[in-house]
Amino acid sequence: MLKQRAYNFNAGPSALPLAVLEKAQKEFVDFQGTGMSVMELSHRSAAYEEVHNQAISRLKSLLSIPDQYEVLFLQGGASLQFSMIPMNFLSAGQQAGYIMTGSWSEKAIKEAELFGKPYHIASSKKNQYRTIPALSELTFNEQDAYVHLTSNNTIYGTQWKEFPETGNIPLIADMSSDILSRPIDVSRFALIYAGAQKNLGPSGVTVVIIRKDLLEKENSDAPTMLKYSTHAKTNSLFHTPPTFGIYMLGEVLRWVEEQGGIDVITQKNEEKAKIIYDTIDQSHGFYYGHAEKGSRSLMNITFRLNDEDLEKKFLTEAKEAGFVGLNGHRSVGGCRASTYNAVPFEACKALSEFMREFQQKNS
Ligand SMILES: Cc1ncc(COP(=O)(O)O)c(C=O)c1O
Repeated sequence: MLKQRAYNFNAGPSALPLAVLEKAQKEFVDFQGTGMSVMELSHRSAAYEEVHNQAISRLKSLLSIPDQYEVLFLQGGASLQFSMIPMNFLSAGQQAGYIMTGSWSEKAIKEAELFGKPYHIASSKKNQYRTIPALSELTFNEQDAYVHLTSNNTIYGTQWKEFPETGNIPLIADMSSDILSRPIDVSRFALIYAGAQKNLGPSGVTVVIIRKDLLEKENSDAPTMLKYSTHAKTNSLFHTPPTFGIYMLGEVLRWVEEQGGIDVITQKNEEKAKIIYDTIDQSHGFYYGHAEKGSRSLMNITFRLNDEDLEKKFLTEAKEAGFVGLNGHRSVGGCRASTYNAVPFEACKALSEFMREFQQKNS
């Protein structure tokens, strides 16, 4: 019998839909009558190609990706994108604007410094990354190679609600921790990237959505494997792709479709986040959020308790009660509940009840 599922609030890798895990389990040793696991199929076989192409077309349809974009499945995580982007699109001496909203933007700009002259368009570092800069604060330079932002800040728990208009300057976004959690207008971006291990599937696959005209601006000196065009020309089959991860990603996308698509998922995510944020806001300061209200993330809810010992006690008792992954990122401490698409409302409700009870007992 299946043990009860954990209340999994991990920041990534994170919860996957139970229905997807069960389907994968059922198909594990014999995928659709092939007598093999998906992992054992040749990546050149018709059976695998079907899995691969379905995953691409499901993502295109769920995110309404226009025809002038390619969907790529790469490896190396979002972290390799921090390097691949400047390696391909930033030349020595050229500038690119980075909007700094947390540790992931810091990691991204550090790689760009190896290739050109990235600079801060704006930064919320001075307020401990509690906010997303206001659109009115941002100015863009037509000469810049691109503008880079992080749509959701997994560690600090902030999220862009509206994206800047950058005109002819390519807008590039790291959407690792909120892709597929809400509708986005892909046509506003030249490149979107995301590690799969939060909303899309298991770790090991990186999704890149790239506008085809950007491929033409690519640096021809980049190594073959690190050029986007290599993967665009070969439908991400230049080399052996992470086949099992792509199969799982396709099944997660099928699950999102079955839930009713992005609009239904968005509504559920709003309800899940609300029940936890309400608990924080109604606690009269027993719990307090890290992010300012207007910048709060629907995916990563960061909060603290006023007293450090009490915070430790909270995390210990939460763990004993079956809540997994509530420790804040090791770099900032505190508490964090990641409420990605596959985290059920029941888990968020149970957390809210646990938080209210803990407050009652300890205040
Ligand atoms: C917003 C964001 N960007 C980048 C990364 C790094 O991703 P990866 O571990 O896939 O390289 C993470 C990981 O949590 C993230 O949350």
